[in-house]
This record gives sequence, structure tokens and C-alpha cells, in this order.
Amino acid sequence: MDCTITQAPIRVFHRRLRRWYAAHGRRNLPWRNTHDPYAIYVSEVMLQQTQVATVLDRYYFPFLKRFPTIRALAAARQDEVLSAWQGLGYYSRAVHLHKAARRCKDQFPRRIEDMVSLPGVGRNTAHAIAAFAYRQPVAVMEANVRRVLSRIFALKQPNEAELWEKAATLLDENNPFDYNQAMMDLGALVCVRRAPLCPQCPASAICKGKASPGTYPAPKAKKPVPVRRKHIVVLKSAEGKYFATPRKGKFLNGLYHFVENENVPPSGTKIGHIRRQYSHFTLEADVWLAKARETGEGWHSLKQLKKLPVSMAEKKILGLLERSKKMLR
Ligand code: ADE
Repeated sequence: MDCTITQAPIRVFHRRLRRWYAAHGRRNLPWRNTHDPYAIYVSEVMLQQTQVATVLDRYYFPFLKRFPTIRALAAARQDEVLSAWQGLGYYSRAVHLHKAARRCKDQFPRRIEDMVSLPGVGRNTAHAIAAFAYRQPVAVMEANVRRVLSRIFALKQPNEAELWEKAATLLDENNPFDYNQAMMDLGALVCVRRAPLCPQCPASAICKGKASPGTYPAPKAKKPVPVRRKHIVVLKSAEGKYFATPRKGKFLNGLYHFVENENVPPSGTKIGHIRRQYSHFTLEADVWLAKARETGEGWHSLKQLKKLPVSMAEKKILGLLERSKKMLR
């Protein structure tokens, strides 16, 4: 199939998309009503793996309140940043954001080449900031836009290069802010994965995939996620302190955790079971409370523990601990 679209219909599409966005777009999203590259950067990083509603309800405003400028973020401790990110998941985003802020000092860069040299800033995030904060004529490429482009150009299994090339072909260079926001909204509201609303779509006249939108992009076979079974052991000292240390490595980096064993611990009392779904595995863990002697660092009262950054699994364990407080006294 010929996948090219000529200039004249693209101009008509730009006009229709603009009109559609003015009538139906989510124009009141707070990161669409600022020119501050830092606020836009924070929103884009949060939105990388999290839905708009979650970011909007619980994270965007509190994060900006706590760290209102890139300078304030750079001056914060990693613990504080992770605490503000608690519950959002994919914590390396927060670690990268913090490192990038320290690298930028006072000002977020203007040039895309400089943006992508920052930790955690890929081409899409850089383009989003360039288009939204600086009105640079570049296209964004998040999940919704990928689907819209795959359908408009009837691409079953497009690779990244193809998608970027199509995105550039279609871009409204005179209007990169609204165009990109509108493309995301088109994917979120009209060109949805199941049962897209093709008759209402401003791209209908140029869409090569509208006869069978479900085939573009070709649905991916879901890989089964493995289950990891563990025994999590909360060590408690005679002084009433608990042992927890920050994780090292990529997974949940910097967040505090308890001891993790493959096998049943030699002593202790089982206080519950937790289940947690991550993108690449499911955790099934029995949780144990065991007596131990305090040696070295890493011992915290329950009150202190509650203030440390932890992931949702440890949050659940803290709940179990609350309930079993009277045990092993
Ligand atoms: N996802 C990534 N960037 C976004 C934006 N600016 N608005 C809505 N969803 C997004």
C-alpha cells in the first residue's frame, strides 16, 4: 500500500484537527497552561508511564508545590524526591529527574541535543518539552500518537524510525503546541484501541487504516509475566526498631526494603502475604517478623520507617506490621 499523503490534504487535516481540539481537546490540563519548561518536564516524566488521571489527582501539584523550581529540586535530597514520587512507580524516573535537575542547575536547556543528554530524557520527552515550552516545530511520540500514526498510514508493525518519519510528515509546523496535544487527545478520545470513533475523526479523510482500524498496529501477543515467590523478613530488635535499607540497582533504586529471602526463614512468625504486580513480574511474598540483635546501621522506629521512601509492597508490609505490633514484644 502507498503510505504517502500529499501536502494539500495534510493542510485540510491540520485545519480539522485544530477545530476538533478547540471543541473537544483536554485543554485545561495544567501542564497545557504553562510555558515553564520545568513544570512541563515534570509532567512529561510523570506521564511517561502513568495515566493522566493519576498524575493529575495525586502527583503533579504536590510535587511542584514541594519542588517549585528546578533549583529547589536540585537542592533536595534523593529521599525527599522519592517520597514525593511514592506510589507513582517506575522510580528510576524520579532518580533521573533529580540527577538531571542537579546537572541543569538553574535552567532547563532549550536545545533538543542538550535535553537528550540528561538522564531519563529520551527523544519523545525532549520533543514534548521543545514543542510545549519553546514552541519548536517537532513531533511527539507517545502511545496514543503511535496508534494514531499507525492507523493513518496503515502500518501494521512500524519500527521507531518509520513512526518518527511519519510523525514529521504530518506535523503542523506552524502550530506545534496544539497540534501535538491534539494528536495525543485524538488517540485518547477518538482513535482508541478498541472501537475507535472513526466517523467523528478529523483525520478520516486521510486515514488509510479506517476500513479496519483494529489491524493497525497489529495487536501484540501478550507475554505471560513470571511469578517470583519470596519470603520477606522484617527484623525487629529488642529496642523495638526495624531493619530496612535502601535498594541498590535499577529496580526501585533508593527505596527502602526489608530482608528478602528465597526460602522460609529459620525463625520468626508469619504475619501475612503480599502480592504485587510489576511490569515484568508478579511478586508473591510471605511476610515474616523475626527477632534480631541491632548491629550496624539500618535500624528505624516504626515512626521513622513511615517517613522513609518505600514502594507499595513495603507500604503493605507496614500495614501488616501495624496490625502485629504487639507480637514479639
Ligand atoms: N502524555 C504525555 N504528554 C502528555 C500531555 N501533554 N497531555 C496528555 N497526555 C500526555
